[in-house]
Amino acid sequence: MPTHTSIQLAKTQLEAGGIVAIPTETVYGLAANALDPVAVAKIFEAKNRPFFDPLIVHVSTIADIQKWTLAIHPKLQLLLEAFSPGPLTVLLPKNANIPDIVTAGLDTVGIRIPNHPLILKLLTSLDFPLCAPSANPFGYVSPTSAQHVADQLGDKIDSILDGGACVVGLESTIVGIENEAVIVYRLGGLSIEKIEKIVGRVVIKPTQNSNPLAPGMLDAHYAPRKPLLVGDITRLAELHSREKLGLISFEKNYKNVSFLAKKVLSPEGSLAMAASRLFEAMRALDQSDVSMILAETFPDEGLGRAINDRLKRASIK
Ligand code: TXA
Ligand code: MG
Repeated sequence: MPTHTSIQLAKTQLEAGGIVAIPTETVYGLAANALDPVAVAKIFEAKNRPFFDPLIVHVSTIADIQKWTLAIHPKLQLLLEAFSPGPLTVLLPKNANIPDIVTAGLDTVGIRIPNHPLILKLLTSLDFPLCAPSANPFGYVSPTSAQHVADQLGDKIDSILDGGACVVGLESTIVGIENEAVIVYRLGGLSIEKIEKIVGRVVIKPTQNSNPLAPGMLDAHYAPRKPLLVGDITRLAELHSREKLGLISFEKNYKNVSFLAKKVLSPEGSLAMAASRLFEAMRALDQSDVSMILAETFPDEGLGRAINDRLKRASIK
């Protein structure tokens, strides 16, 4: 699979209607020309993603966001100014140039400015925006390295632009407006605390089980194939002592419990570090000989909230 660092090659393939995996600060995306419905359809096919799940559009400036949307609510404008480029997606009323396949027929578009030098350079060189979901098969853990993409989608896509390991490691935080209030639809790489410093209290509505329009927000998603349980590690290990156990923890090593494999995400106690390593750890354990993954509940603050959200969804089968 051609993994490369050539912006020119990615540009040529995208201009020809191809699909290219791209690095962002959150997770790798699988990109196509957002204005070309035939190219966009290839993304759904490669990912085996249902057509009712809308895609996020990626642009390089706030002026570009204005180009594809009808209006930006002042509170979302403040958030964009504070956190773009960065792990923030805003839901805005779309204009007629964004094809329906991108938004699953919704009249809003999810749009963001990713913070990675390669993708920003690529976007600047193109005369169309890129729509890109995470570059993983539908429902599976998102990729945080070019190798992750190659492992799962390598034979289905034109190429992979390799920008190294994703610095944030969790998908963008998705926000919108309902009745003048800022609503958070997906917890992610931008913490609620940072958002609330700019716009005051927000409403968190991350679980949308009744809403088939946003499967990324479904209870069960981001899941490894092996069973994953979240809770008190010592107790869970006792209950499942016959299993070959793998551990995902924040700082603690659990020397009292016998594990086949351990992923201590940040012995130094950094939630940002833990977030950047979470998906890699889930994948590695999924591919190892463990038969069950036990994960700690992380501190309920900052990126710990988004980590707990992903662990919870990964635990539901
Ligand atoms: O960090 C990210 O956001 C990554 C990188 C590649 O940018 N992208 C990503 O895309 O996570 P995806 O498709 O895996 O998740 C996007 C989520 C989905 O749950 C989708 O339902 C929701 O965003 N979404 C997109 N457009 C929407 C819209 N107009 N209304 C409601 N939900 C929307
Ligand atoms: Mg995804």
